[in-house]
Amino acid sequence: MERTLIILKPDAVQRQLVGRIIGRFEDKGLKIVGAKMRRIPRETLERHYSDHLGKPFYERLLAFMSKDPVLILALEGKNAIAVCRKMMGATFGSKAEAGTIRGDFGISDSFNLIHGSDSPEAAAKELKLFFAADELVSYDIISAPWIYDEDELAPGPPGRSRTPH
Ligand code: CMP
Repeated sequence: MERTLIILKPDAVQRQLVGRIIGRFEDKGLKIVGAKMRRIPRETLERHYSDHLGKPFYERLLAFMSKDPVLILALEGKNAIAVCRKMMGATFGSKAEAGTIRGDFGISDSFNLIHGSDSPEAAAKELKLFFAADELVSYDIISAPWIYDEDELAPGPPGRSRTPH
């Protein structure tokens, strides 16, 4: 199981798309293990977007992201990082495929509704930046055996079943 950091950006909050976007992740079988609504301080955004420092859109990006509250989520599931990125769609709303979150809900290239970690390294860094360890909650969901094959839920290498058939 993998965890990823998702931010529903100020445009998603202002356009009241939060429920519909979270619903897509829940429908997929991803589990919410952390959630908080915040206005992100500039200093945190500078750390989060350090790779974009110096790019032409950097200042506008920070102004947009700090202007209004966002919903910050930690999601857990099998291949959660790649699965969420696929569900989000391409960065630019005008280019994102129909069926993806950006493809279905947005057309702007800078107000693109959602952020998701793009690698395990980024997920580890971003989860730490936005959540204290005790703000992430481990729990079982009762539908897990219907979302996953039991082999996928079992600890240890794939193929090792928890219960003998
Ligand atoms: P995200 O991929 O979450 O993180 C970087 C953000 O920068 C990206 O979403 C967009 O919101 C923004 N961004 C990236 N490229 C551009 C661009 N060319 N013009 C404006 N905003 C951009």
